Amino acid sequence: MSALALPAHAPAPSRRLAGRTVLVFGAGTSGPGWSNGQAAAVAYALAGADLVVVDLVKERAQETARLCEGAGVRALPLAASATDGQAVETVFAHALDAFGAIDVLHNNAGIAEVAPTAEMSDETWARAFALNVTAPFIACRLAIRQMRAQPRGGVVTNISTVGSLRYCGITYAGYAASKAALNQLTSSIALEHAANGIRANAVVPGILDTPLVHNQLGARFGGDIEAARRERAALCPMGFAGDAWDVANAAVFLASDEARYITGQLLVVDGGLSSRCA
Ligand SMILES: NC(=O)c1ccc[n+]([C@@H]2O[C@H](COP(=O)([O-])OP(=O)(O)OC[C@H]3O[C@@H](n4cnc5c(N)ncnc54)[C@H](O)[C@@H]3O)[C@@H](O)[C@H]2O)c1
Repeated sequence: MSALALPAHAPAPSRRLAGRTVLVFGAGTSGPGWSNGQAAAVAYALAGADLVVVDLVKERAQETARLCEGAGVRALPLAASATDGQAVETVFAHALDAFGAIDVLHNNAGIAEVAPTAEMSDETWARAFALNVTAPFIACRLAIRQMRAQPRGGVVTNISTVGSLRYCGITYAGYAASKAALNQLTSSIALEHAANGIRANAVVPGILDTPLVHNQLGARFGGDIEAARRERAALCPMGFAGDAWDVANAAVFLASDEARYITGQLLVVDGGLSSRCA
């Protein structure tokens, strides 16, 4: 189905989400290999959902749409910035024109800039809050209005990070604080709309092997990705880092009817990292 091989822990094709439409923001990948956004989109497709895949970079949205179509579903690629309210309204209009409903909103786009707090610029702080909190808020607001009008409601899944729960030794307070705000946005949405058939949860990943991380670590380890991988794996209680499919599998579960009584939760996918005392 794709130029990229699916790992053994990718979901088997199913009809769990057949007849549903999923809208993913940040559905491309920032480098070779599976990103959280792309794996999530393809995992939803493997579960039978139609997709609207949005990315800042048009070619990235198109590539993910092509992979989703390989799973036998319909996929609409759209280029837009999740931080641009007008553009996001246009995305919703196109999505509804194409599919008539939005059953799942998946907010994946995020930014993590390392900057010690005392040296952090206003711009770095503002960029984190714009993409990690305000953008999901804008998309959630539109999704909720639509889902309230749909007989079967809908599901919101926001992608957070264990950095929102604990100081993980990386100096990115803007990232940590903005994702903590995203967690609380998620739980507010869940409780405000629990009686409207709308569920909202956040997936909280720990240390992952993804293209995004490789891009950032490449510089720190002089391009030696394998050394970076080994160092990060050693930090993980299970002895290995997770990957985008671990996050994608959690998202498909949360979107499915099997999770019909789960809302307002932070689903931590970190191999035990955040439960360890030291
Ligand atoms: N990779 C990890 O190790 C890790 C760990 C914890 C949490 N996360 C979370 O996962 C998410 C991203 O992971 P990924 O692997 O998909 O990253 P990625 O950078 O590979 O892919 C994200 C996609 O989002 C797109 N994007 C960026 N800004 C955008 C915008 N303003 N509007 C629309 N699209 C935009 C990029 O073009 C890219 O294609 C973030 O929310 C991040 O906080 C990642």
